[in-house]
Amino acid sequence: MKLTRREVLSAGTALLAAGAEGRATRAEDIAGTPGPATHSLNVNGAVRDVPLDPRVTVLDALREHLHLTGTKKGCDQGQCGACTVLIDGERVLSCLTLAVSVEGKRILTIEGLAESDGTLHPMQQAFIDQDGFQCGYCTPGQIMSAVACVKEGHASTDDDIREYMSGNLCRCAAYPKIVAAIKQARDHMSAA
Ligand code: FES
Ligand code: FES
Repeated sequence: MKLTRREVLSAGTALLAAGAEGRATRAEDIAGTPGPATHSLNVNGAVRDVPLDPRVTVLDALREHLHLTGTKKGCDQGQCGACTVLIDGERVLSCLTLAVSVEGKRILTIEGLAESDGTLHPMQQAFIDQDGFQCGYCTPGQIMSAVACVKEGHASTDDDIREYMSGNLCRCAAYPKIVAAIKQARDHMSAA
């Protein structure tokens, strides 16, 4: 059957109208869907209520929902340690940890390490004093991991420090200065 130009145009218009109606129906469906449930996260001593999809990691909750971007996303696969935070005092890879699983626990990030008056934690000061970073991208994770390393009692020798900090990679290879910084902080933290 051969269609006239007018018939082709009106068929196209009808198809467009049907498509628009379909899109409107889907938008209404989505609007009617309940949003993600709200979860309470204790971050750096403050409880924050955050609507979270159950698949969101602690890393993305911190960076994308709470805008705490000090915790870095390196590999996002548990390989580099850039995302290290402390949860109930233990070091954790935040890229591999679901945020909903840490509700009720204490999350400490690099933003919460200094005193409220701005005095740096001995580990932060030591990284500055020993020049323990170059680009600085790995540094928040290194510092959080180093704090736990000292508290675990795994910083008595250089070999211990290297072993127990081996999960934190530094692409700039600032390793000798990182070890020096941890030794400086260890002495201050033990004296405290
Ligand atoms: Fe988590 Fe690399 S970003 S281990
Ligand atoms: Fe650049 Fe460690 S200081 S990655």
